[in-house]
Amino acid sequence: MGKIILTGDRPTGRLHLGHYVGSLKRRVELQNSGEYDKIYIMIADAQALTDNWDNPEKIRQSIIEVALDYLSVGIDPDKCTILIQSQIPELTELAFYYADLVTLSRLERNPTVKSEVKMRGFNTSIPVGFLTYPISQTADITAFKANVVPAGEDQEPMIEQAREIVRKFNSTYSPVLVEPEISIPENVTCRRLPGTDGKEKMSKSLGNAIYLSDTPEEVKKKVMSMYTDPDHIQVSDPGKVEGNAVFTYLDAFVKADSFEKYLPEYENLDALKDHYKRGGLGDVKVKKFLIKILEEELAPIRERRHEFEKDIPHVYEILKKGSEEAEKVAAATLHEVKDAMRINYFDDMELIHSQAEKFSR
Ligand code: TRP
Repeated sequence: MGKIILTGDRPTGRLHLGHYVGSLKRRVELQNSGEYDKIYIMIADAQALTDNWDNPEKIRQSIIEVALDYLSVGIDPDKCTILIQSQIPELTELAFYYADLVTLSRLERNPTVKSEVKMRGFNTSIPVGFLTYPISQTADITAFKANVVPAGEDQEPMIEQAREIVRKFNSTYSPVLVEPEISIPENVTCRRLPGTDGKEKMSKSLGNAIYLSDTPEEVKKKVMSMYTDPDHIQVSDPGKVEGNAVFTYLDAFVKADSFEKYLPEYENLDALKDHYKRGGLGDVKVKKFLIKILEEELAPIRERRHEFEKDIPHVYEILKKGSEEAEKVAAATLHEVKDAMRINYFDDMELIHSQAEKFSR
């Protein structure tokens, strides 16, 4: 069996550094490894609508932003199929049948759903579409027979639930679906990059994100006002590196040659941390170092984005082509699913003949 990837993002705005270290960067590595037979990258607009049903224009405007972010980090439409979820009706149909295999209490126990419900303040008025999005996400993954899902750590419960649905389907009907596995970043700090305010998660809604498409001035401004150690007041004070967002970002972004290039007086990140902990190292110096490291990463991304921005119709063409190609694959899987569930009446000559015989007796 081949190795097939499916992964995706909700189009609710531009993508940020959290997306980048948590999954985008890894997708490009996997793409370039040549080890995968197919890579599908989904812009999950239908999923985004489950909690933005009242703001469809936001989703509509974000499709192109996400597509530009993909292309600018180096996702190559010749190597990957980029698709828009809502344009593949087979996914909705699959989700409808999978819904029979899932209980309400199992959905309510899904840790990702639980924390998202809490974050959105839904309380007891949870939209059914939102509560059931793990089922729809299972349809996304299984439609393409994906066995690898590169995603952030927060998606682990989603993939676990998808695996359960696959097992239940395969044992109830016949083994047509593939159990997926999640692939999360090896670098632990990359799994959940904190916001610039030091809060657990970088997110658009918290206003603590650095975007891939931010200008150098915006990046500089955001880093200079980043959360550090509130007790590190004088340069001479000893400082804490744990929970200090600047050092967490350094953990995620420092490269082997970063010190030699930008801060040769330190041998490595441990030496820099030791100095900070001892006292005598100011936040500004560390922040300026971080800005240089981030710029090294972001400058080429920004440049590529500007190139793609010059031909927006071409980007939509990429999405259309990808969606059309993906629909063919999803349709083939749906066909197998309906066969397995015995809802293939018109394709089944044996059924028609045996019924004819039964009624002629
Ligand atoms: N739920 C994912 C998120 O919130 C987005 C997503 C939709 C996804 N479909 C997917 C991720 C399929 C992996 C596989 O980020």
